[in-house]
Amino acid sequence: MDQNKELAGKILALKERKRALILAHNYQREEVQEIADFTGDSLELSRTAVQIDCDVIVFCGVDFMAESASILNPKKTVLLPEQSACCPMADMVHWDAPRRPWSTYPGYREQPVFVYPKEFTLKDMKAMHPGVPVVCYVNTSAEVKAHSDICCTSANVVKVVESLPSDKVICVPDRNLSMWAQKNTGKKVIAWDGFCHVHDRITREDALNSRKEHPGALLLAHPECRPEVLDVADHVTSTSGMIRFASESAHKEFIVGTETGILYRLRKDNPDKIFHPLRKDMICPNMKKTTLQSVFDALSRMEHVVKVPEDIRLAAKTSLDRMLAL
Ligand code: 13P
Ligand code: SF4
Repeated sequence: MDQNKELAGKILALKERKRALILAHNYQREEVQEIADFTGDSLELSRTAVQIDCDVIVFCGVDFMAESASILNPKKTVLLPEQSACCPMADMVHWDAPRRPWSTYPGYREQPVFVYPKEFTLKDMKAMHPGVPVVCYVNTSAEVKAHSDICCTSANVVKVVESLPSDKVICVPDRNLSMWAQKNTGKKVIAWDGFCHVHDRITREDALNSRKEHPGALLLAHPECRPEVLDVADHVTSTSGMIRFASESAHKEFIVGTETGILYRLRKDNPDKIFHPLRKDMICPNMKKTTLQSVFDALSRMEHVVKVPEDIRLAAKTSLDRMLAL
């Protein structure tokens, strides 16, 4: 712990000197959340990246988040402390390169929900549904954003889908988020078959067992969970939505259906309340790669710089700007 304190002190000094801003996603390790200037969900972090005056952004999260910060802030240097911190779900959709077979991803379910040919690309999907707008989750590459009409996050997917003039939309890459949007907008959502292995592994039985174990608790679930899990939840929302809901609720006990990194902030903000993980193994290995040492190394060596080719950046920015304008 003393070692952490010393490193945290060095990071803070370096941060001042380099006019850097440290952003951390709600799933980050607690010591990383602790040294961050802002913690939040994907939507809040994208907004903060635009609003704050600084020269450098250190993004403690995964690659697509740092990429979005760089797309929105071409003049700022965006650093991703751990170069290999990625989101397997974001890798499940490509513009014109065939996707990897689903079975090679962690947490693959034997029964895919929607079946597409192995070589299927976003380009094929668009050709199959001409004129249908594409909504892409921020958990996608810059190239996919560049070929989409608008981005969304788990916090605003319903609002984004409702904002489009069409009664049919294509939604990539998360099938669970897409089904959640369809249920809550009444629009026809043409879903990609991607999934987050951390959330999609939770079954309805897990949710019901947890409810039985903690009968007085409210069940909060992230929309990346399966529809049958969301059906038995008391509240479905983004990570920061959970933090707000738990603070404002008169309830004292909650089951938390998302990555366990969020428990740190929930418990810190609400010392009088009790939080149980829906399942203790809801851990995203990529979110846990970033450590205080990697933040320190990134800032002192000014690596790893995230940059997007300018033509892709401009097109992807249009999709992100449309979302932020909502
Ligand atoms: P939010 O924090 O936007 O809810 O997203 C969760 C997530 O899985 C990000 O990778
Ligand atoms: Fe991707 Fe899921 Fe990890 Fe979020 S929790 S970064 S969606 S794998």
